[in-house]
Amino acid sequence: METIVTKDPLVAAEVIRSGGTAAFPTETVYGLGANVFDEAAIQKLFDAKQRPQDNPLIAHIGHLDQLDQLACDIPGFAWDLIDTFFPGPLTLVLQKGERVPLIATAGLETIGVRMPGLELAREFLTACGTPVVAPSANLSGRPSPTTWEAVKEDLDGRIDCILKGDATEIGLESTVVDCTGTGPVVLRPGAISLEQLQEIVPKASKASDADSGAALKSPGMRHRHYSPRAAVVIVKGAIPPGGPDSAFIGIDQSAGQFSNSLILSSVEEYARAVFEFFRECDRRGVKTIYCEAVPETGVGAALMDRLRRAAQG
Ligand code: TXA
Ligand code: MG
Repeated sequence: METIVTKDPLVAAEVIRSGGTAAFPTETVYGLGANVFDEAAIQKLFDAKQRPQDNPLIAHIGHLDQLDQLACDIPGFAWDLIDTFFPGPLTLVLQKGERVPLIATAGLETIGVRMPGLELAREFLTACGTPVVAPSANLSGRPSPTTWEAVKEDLDGRIDCILKGDATEIGLESTVVDCTGTGPVVLRPGAISLEQLQEIVPKASKASDADSGAALKSPGMRHRHYSPRAAVVIVKGAIPPGGPDSAFIGIDQSAGQFSNSLILSSVEEYARAVFEFFRECDRRGVKTIYCEAVPETGVGAALMDRLRRAAQG
């Protein structure tokens, strides 16, 4: 199959309307979209990514008035989060509406819903005229794509279209919050921090690792994730000596001895750069990537979550 690359959101939307798969930028990472009500298109999406069929998808909307096609029985605290954080890097897990096919939610009676903040994403979604399910637009298990070139690297010839935008602003996937219980529970940390959620809903909490229900509730978290081919090692203290096969990413200005190193000036920049750095290290045949640990506040919590998962891979 030929993959069209376009800058025109209307061209990419036409691909979705005619039952195809189209990758598109958001402020977090690039997503791979299909019409939420088209089971055949969703199956193509799972096949293109080689994604395990038991990993549910996030449905994306361009307008709040599309929400009732996807979800029902939305609790008051979820509306408070919607009022504050939509559009933005936040996914809410809600009771699924009747029309949503089970292939979209991997058999769950709940559905993740997000309205991206990036204007180009909302133009595309609005032109689709339907909510669009979209996982990150990478081959399953690879780092999420933060540029259209990274999408092409993984999925060229496997999908119908790439909507070409800029490199993504945040660089890590959205915060996923379960709203099907008595209060919001963070299943996956992202740019919107637990502290920010608690300012709006004080009882918001984070799913603890000891809580086996969390793994069941966010099935995607069971799968291998975010892994470059190189080994990832998290560095907490002194930075080890660099070798020709190793790389370093962090915000410590003294790590000058690595031939492959990327020193950023803030945790936000580090988060924005990390997935593309992983991919670049793989292109260069790096064997070990040393990643500096950061304090787990703000986006630092999400960054450390992704680094730990990559280190396990
Ligand atoms: O920023 C993002 O969220 C990006 C962009 C494209 O929007 N999307 C993304 O999708 O990261 P994906 O498929 O790579 O990750 C979706 C996560 C998985 O961890 C999945 O388990 C969880 O959301 N999820 C989706 N639906 C769920 C549901 N009904 N219940 C619990 N967790 C759910
Ligand atoms: Mg993903």
